Amino acid sequence: MRDFENDRGSMLFGGLRAEDIAERFGTPVYVTDEDILRGNYRRIYNAFAKHMDTRVYYACKANTSMALLRILEQEGSYVDTVSIGEIATCMKVGFPVSRIMYTGTSVSTSELRDVLNTGVMVNIDSPSEMERLAEIDGNAKISVRITPGIGAGHCDKVVTGSKGSKFGIPLDSAVDIYGRALELGLRPIGIHVHIGSGGSDPMNALSNAVSVLTDLTNDIKDVHGLDLEFINMGGGFEVPYKPNEPEMDIEELASVVTDMILNDTSVRTIALEPGRYVVCDSTILLTRCVDVKRAGGKNYIGVDAGFNTLIRPTFYDSYHHVAIANKFNKACEGKYDVVGPICESGDYLARDRALPTPEEGDVVAVYNCGAYAFSMSSTYNSRPRCREVLMHDGKAELIREAETLEDLWRYQMIPERLVE
Ligand code: LLP
Repeated sequence: MRDFENDRGSMLFGGLRAEDIAERFGTPVYVTDEDILRGNYRRIYNAFAKHMDTRVYYACKANTSMALLRILEQEGSYVDTVSIGEIATCMKVGFPVSRIMYTGTSVSTSELRDVLNTGVMVNIDSPSEMERLAEIDGNAKISVRITPGIGAGHCDKVVTGSKGSKFGIPLDSAVDIYGRALELGLRPIGIHVHIGSGGSDPMNALSNAVSVLTDLTNDIKDVHGLDLEFINMGGGFEVPYKPNEPEMDIEELASVVTDMILNDTSVRTIALEPGRYVVCDSTILLTRCVDVKRAGGKNYIGVDAGFNTLIRPTFYDSYHHVAIANKFNKACEGKYDVVGPICESGDYLARDRALPTPEEGDVVAVYNCGAYAFSMSSTYNSRPRCREVLMHDGKAELIREAETLEDLWRYQMIPERLVE
C-alpha cells in the first residue's frame, strides 16, 4: 500500500496537508494526485512495451472523471468501455475512436447500433450479439471475449472467467465462433479474456489465462487460416490495500506473458485492460469526523461519508486503510469502527481499526479510493454526490462540483392531478 509523507503530524497529499484540502473544499471530497496517476500508467505501459507492441486499454468503469480521462488520453492510453455513456464521455474528452474498445455484456440491439455508429470496435460477449452486430455492420472489425475457465477475484462478485460465467464465449465453442464470424463477413482481429478483478495469486491466474489464449490463437489459425492481430489479457492487476501487503511484480508478469505470445504465436501486439492498477492509489477520500460514540463495548467514529460515497466496504467487505490525517504521527490508542450517515447498520468504511483517539472535527483519510469509488457512488438517503479535486504541482484544482438538492429533483415530476 502506498503511504504518504508526514508534515509535523499532518498527512501530506500532493504537496498539501490533507486537513487543509478538506478545509478548503469541504468534506467528503475525493482528492487525486496527478503524478501518481501518470506514474501508474507509465509503469504498467513500460513493463509490457519494452517487450512488444502494447496497448493499455484503461478500464474506465473504475473512474470516469473527465479530468483523469484527459490525463490518460495525454499519456497515450487506450480505453475499454462498457456502455454508450462511457464511450461518449471518452470521446468528449478527446479519445479518438480508434483508441476505444467496447466490451459490453447483455448488450441490447439499440446499444449495439449506437456503439457501431461511433465507429468503436466491439469485443463480442455472446453468439447472439455477434449475429445482431453482423446485421448492422456486416464487415466490422471485432474481437471476441473468451471464457477461459479460469476465474480470479477479491470476492465472488467480481470473478468473471470461470466456466459457466455469464461473460464471454465458452472455451469449447471458441474456435467455431471465429468460423462463424468469417462466414458472416466480419473481420475478427483480436481475442480477449478478463478473468476477474484482483485475487490471491494474480500472476498465476493471469499467465494461465494468456496461455489459454495462445493455444486458441494457434487453433484458430490452423482451423480457419486466420492470423489475429492482438491478444487482450484483460484487467485484474492487483493493488495492495493493506499496509505491508506486497505489490504485484508487474515486470515479471509482463516478461512471462509477452514471452509466451512472442514465442508461441505469430501475434505481435498485446492489449491489457487495467482499471484499478492505473487509478486506485492515486486518490484518497477525505471525510470529517462528526460524532464520536461508545456503545456496547465498541468505539465508533461517525464521519460524513457513508456507502453512498464509498460502497466497497459494505458491498464487497473490502478493506480500505484509514488514518486520521491531522493526527498522522500520534500513537494508536484504541480500536474503532468508522461509520457513515446512511441509515443502515451495514454503513461502514472500516471496522476494528487501531487509531489515535478521535475528536469531532478530525479529518479521516480513506486510502485507495481512485478505483470503483466515485464511479459507484449514489445519492441514497438523498445525499448529493461530493466534490473531486486534482493535485498538481502542489496546487489543488476542483475537477467536479458537488451535486445540489436541485440535482436530486431535476428529473422528477409530480403529475398535475397531485398538485393542488
Ligand atoms: N476489463 C474488463 C472486461 C472488466 O470487466 C474489468 C472490470 C476490467 C477490465 C478492469 O478490472 P481491474 O483491472 O480494475 O480489476 N467494482 C469492483 C470491480 C469490478 C470490476 C469489473 N470489471 C470493485 O470495486 O472491486
